[in-house]
Amino acid sequence: MSWKVGILLVAGICLCSFLVNAPNNNNEKVNAIFGAYMEEAISSIDGFEKAIDNKAGKKILIKRFKEARLSYKKAAVLIDYFHPAETKLLNGAALPRTEEDNPITVYQPHGFQVIEEIIYGDKDDSFYIKLSDEVKRIATIYRQLKNQPDRAYKFKDPIVLNALQAAMIRLISLGISGFDSPVANYSIPEAQATIEGIEDLYEVYESSTATKELFRSAVAYLDDHTNFNRFDRLEFISGYAQPLYSALIELGNKGEFQMPPGLRPVNNTVANPFTPAFFDIAFFAPQGRFAATPERIELGKKLFFDKRLSSTRDRSCASCHDPKLAFTDGVKAALAIDKKNYLQRNTPTLWNSVYQTRQFYDSRATLLEHQLNAVVHSQQEMGGSLAKSVSELSGDAEYRSLFTQAYASEEQPISQHSIANAISTYVRSLVSMNSRFDQYMRGNRMSLSAEERKGFNLFMGKAKCGTCHFLPLFNGLVPPDFSDTESEVLGVPASNTKVNATIDPDEGKFVHSRSPLHKYAFKTPSLRNIALTAPYMHNGVFNTLEEVVDFYSNGGGAGLNIQLPNQTLPPDKLKLSGKESKALVAFLRSLTDSTAAAYAKYNP
Ligand code: HEC
Ligand code: HEC
Repeated sequence: MSWKVGILLVAGICLCSFLVNAPNNNNEKVNAIFGAYMEEAISSIDGFEKAIDNKAGKKILIKRFKEARLSYKKAAVLIDYFHPAETKLLNGAALPRTEEDNPITVYQPHGFQVIEEIIYGDKDDSFYIKLSDEVKRIATIYRQLKNQPDRAYKFKDPIVLNALQAAMIRLISLGISGFDSPVANYSIPEAQATIEGIEDLYEVYESSTATKELFRSAVAYLDDHTNFNRFDRLEFISGYAQPLYSALIELGNKGEFQMPPGLRPVNNTVANPFTPAFFDIAFFAPQGRFAATPERIELGKKLFFDKRLSSTRDRSCASCHDPKLAFTDGVKAALAIDKKNYLQRNTPTLWNSVYQTRQFYDSRATLLEHQLNAVVHSQQEMGGSLAKSVSELSGDAEYRSLFTQAYASEEQPISQHSIANAISTYVRSLVSMNSRFDQYMRGNRMSLSAEERKGFNLFMGKAKCGTCHFLPLFNGLVPPDFSDTESEVLGVPASNTKVNATIDPDEGKFVHSRSPLHKYAFKTPSLRNIALTAPYMHNGVFNTLEEVVDFYSNGGGAGLNIQLPNQTLPPDKLKLSGKESKALVAFLRSLTDSTAAAYAKYNP
């Protein structure tokens, strides 16, 4: 059960004392606002439906579509949070999808993004029929949402505030990136509707002139800068959205508005998403008996660099995950332990690997401990055995003492699990959130050059990178819930050539999920410290960031004539100028962390 399902259940069933009271005045007000949003949304979807019934021309349909989107965006401030299942049907990506626990069943997409593709695509015979079907589906869901009984109970003060905070994070990371307006690029007016929606609800709880002014100026900024490609995301986030987020956090920190205790990915007391404390690392790690302690981290670090963990005694984790190269190895693929063959995949960075709900390029493991077992035992990587390591380390007085301190309450301080847990705890301590980009977002406006700033805006806008490498981690951990790590199909070629390119034969996530949608799907990796981790992609096919950007500019695999029916990267060319590509790369280089760079000196 995800953290959010837990929260919503508690709100619904009223189990805990913090929520037992009947709906108060605020809850009723939020309920009334939600009702009004739904009325508005229903009226605009009905207008849209009428235009379709009347076989209106494309221009009018697009106008109606945009109106419907704006009214949806206001209501979505609450729908996204309180109704995740409906959200998928209203505003999911226009791509077939599966559920993580049942990857074989493929669901066809529905909702606004499907409508968007139809309206902006070529008009065929079934144009109006398809549109009418999709719009009717939306209208039905809207009416269900509007008519649910006992809505006010859900809208407990702290939970609504948490929803507003989540809406703000969604806006910063997804809303303005074109994530859910991929063809229409209507993201900026939609962002305005979102902010207006947040403001209406915020006013239920507080009306401070300072915050009112923040809302007003954010709306005015969006109103003045509606062009998708030219929109200055860096200025908007740092100057307008982030101060608003801080205001929402500040309110949420007040006594009666505090969230009930519980493990959640985001630390709701931290006002800036670009600080390490924004995430609650405990959510991503084991708790209780195997929780992190400084002793365990230190012990794990020693083991990480200890060659005795491999059968040949000449290889440690650090042989491939070298701290000097942000825990990678600088080669296309590492040499296997037999010193003849090569591993199938490129060595990924370990920085921030804790902030993923899936490990490995094919997402086959969830907990580091599990995958660690596999690495040590892998005949290619280390050829070792944790059982052997247990007896070997037990014979070493220094390790005996370190394990006894770190796992004092265990009957057997040195065990296969404690070895795996110690190393994993060390790996989970590798948090890197101190790049020049973060420093900019924390207030040092001199830390990025004009070219880098332009690069960020391309990253989050025209080049669409931010629609998969999500802020603030630049990996596949999906905001604002941050409890799912996504995989994508790009069509990465087997070799670095533009003529007769072929798909890399590694089938990625398909190897274990067997879902046709996952063929050639790979986990979206973090781009933090990317300048230190060449070569790139799961097979190390590209040597430079320029080559990677060139690959994306041409539409990924599709641009190389690799036809994959399930490519999730939009196949369109990005039309970046030479200068723009250069700025994009300059921005990627600003993601190198001074903490990571300092680690380069670490050599036990
Ligand atoms: C021979 C080189 C090699 C050695 C030695 C090695 N690794 Fe790796 N590591 C890799 C490769 C290659 C991958 C990617 C494999 C994949 O995705 O299927 C990887 C993946 C990982 C990941 C997953 C990261 C992610 O983002 O998915 C972690 C964590 C990791 N290794 C930790 C370790 C630890 C801890 C050790 C020592 C016990 C270790 N590795 C030893 C090459 C190596
Ligand atoms: C559709 C989602 C998607 C989009 C859009 C996207 N990426 Fe990626 N990116 C991925 C995935 C998935 C991978 C891993 C692919 C693989 O290894 O085969 C990746 C890999 C990378 C890598 C290599 C990382 C490494 O450690 O090897 C870089 C660099 C990169 N992307 C940069 C970008 C840039 C720059 C953009 C915008 C021009 C962009 N990405 C757009 C999903 C995406």
